[in-house]
Amino acid sequence: MTAEFDTIWMESVDSTNTEILRRSDSLDNLSVIAAVNQTAGRGQRGNVWTVEPGANLTFSILLKFGEDGLSPLKATEQFAISEAVTLALADYFSENGINAKIKWPNDIYVRDRKLVGILIENSLSGSKVARSIVGIGINCNQREFPPQLMNPTSMSLLTGRRYDTHAELDAFLAVLGRYLGTMETASGRSELHQQYLGRMYRLGELHEYTDCRSGEVFKGTIKGISEAALLQVEMPDSTIREFAFKEISYIL
Ligand code: BTN
Repeated sequence: MTAEFDTIWMESVDSTNTEILRRSDSLDNLSVIAAVNQTAGRGQRGNVWTVEPGANLTFSILLKFGEDGLSPLKATEQFAISEAVTLALADYFSENGINAKIKWPNDIYVRDRKLVGILIENSLSGSKVARSIVGIGINCNQREFPPQLMNPTSMSLLTGRRYDTHAELDAFLAVLGRYLGTMETASGRSELHQQYLGRMYRLGELHEYTDCRSGEVFKGTIKGISEAALLQVEMPDSTIREFAFKEISYIL
């Protein structure tokens, strides 16, 4: 698939995810809204996403499925969107000499530092995904971060270079187009799944986690991801336990 993204740059907006949602009925599949400054950026778990205006990339991509859009995608297969997006980011960073890993479900880490935040908001129609809003914040040129942020990093801190955010967005979208093409078929999705496992942060390594349901801190080893996209962790007693997104916290 040659993906034709249509990018709208805005000087300032509350949140590119919120803005693209407001305009979603009138925008086509593969529309992108990028902002120089976000005044109310939204993160995962209801957190805010605050960045230095103009320094980083903050943008959202509208994916529409079905007629005039991408091939239909079952609701049960929606994790394929995370897989395509995170793999595209990891590839794009490789092209920039940055060895990035995917922290399940959809953060991008370099060693123990977070380089990208992703907020994917899907809407379903029956058993299918109707629309997905993929919001991405890439730390490009920011070199200082508020102390309350846990372990942030940026492309500039990692490479010493400064980046032209417009050019970098185009470069990333070119890579993403290829992964969205792969996502369109069942065999492509299974390939994405294997590649995702190969890029996973902490896969097969023993580390500390908190079980958010009980508050218990334990040492475990990430073994993989279930059909339902749950994280599979080998526990101290050698059993495999599955965790949903808000049920486990990585201790860094
Ligand atoms: C996270 O908490 O890690 C996810 C952060 C996602 C931030 C991006 S920036 C562009 C888009 N617009 C938003 O309001 N959030 C996402």
